[in-house]
Amino acid sequence: MNLIHAYNLEKHYYIENPMTLERKRIDVINDVSFQINKNESVAIMGKSGCGKTTLLKMLGGILFPTSGEIRYKGEILSGYNNEQLEIYRRTQIGFVFQDYKLLENMTIKENMILPCILDHQDIEKALERVETMAEMLQIGDRIDHYPCELSGGEKQRAAIGRALINFPSLLLADEPTGNLDTQTSKIVMDLLINIQKELKISMVLVTHDKEIADCCDRIVSIMDGKTY
Ligand SMILES: Nc1ncnc2c1ncn2[C@@H]1O[C@H](COP(=O)(O)OP(=O)(O)OP(=O)(O)O)[C@@H](O)[C@H]1O
Ligand SMILES: [Mg+2]
Repeated sequence: MNLIHAYNLEKHYYIENPMTLERKRIDVINDVSFQINKNESVAIMGKSGCGKTTLLKMLGGILFPTSGEIRYKGEILSGYNNEQLEIYRRTQIGFVFQDYKLLENMTIKENMILPCILDHQDIEKALERVETMAEMLQIGDRIDHYPCELSGGEKQRAAIGRALINFPSLLLADEPTGNLDTQTSKIVMDLLINIQKELKISMVLVTHDKEIADCCDRIVSIMDGKTY
């Protein structure tokens, strides 16, 4: 069975002119359908403003489609109540961002263990997992440092570790190499794909870079609000 089945998705935003209070509709996604299988990595490509981040947020249960449905393991996301949604986001989804979003006043270890603390897990066991994950991401010797003491590539590897620490089923990565140079991007991508395969999770990754997209199993392009 597929992990995600999205069909006939539409997403509109409304923006209000602060002077005239006139409301204008922006049609971002128009009739998008696709599936993501278990253990599969899918790259999403498309020009700036075409709705890639909007799509990731809908998959992550942060935004809802204006019409159409997203099914996760057969269950309709928009049918979840607030508590179910919170559990979905916390236990099934990992998010990685272009700008890492690490908490600057916490060490890498503290950043990585945070999702376990929020999930009220046993600290000792969680710490062991953080150390194992940091080794897998080759930042084992950096976990007692603060984000400002790490390179961009190391910060992104720490952010990937934080996103994966609770073994989500789906990793959503929004331009994860967008702030990195070509060589560092390649290193981070290789680690990301290896760890995704090793943990047997699915991944949806947004990128502008065809070489990065080619590291994934499949590429989906968005154009004029539709997938190709
Ligand atoms: N909350 C919002 N309210 C109104 N319009 C929005 C909102 N969020 C996004 N948009 C608009 O929707 C469109 C798609 O935005 P989105 O961030 O999904 O694009 P994107 O493909 O991720 O772009 P980029 O490659 O630049 O990150 C843009 O025109 C954006 O201005
Ligand atoms: Mg975006």
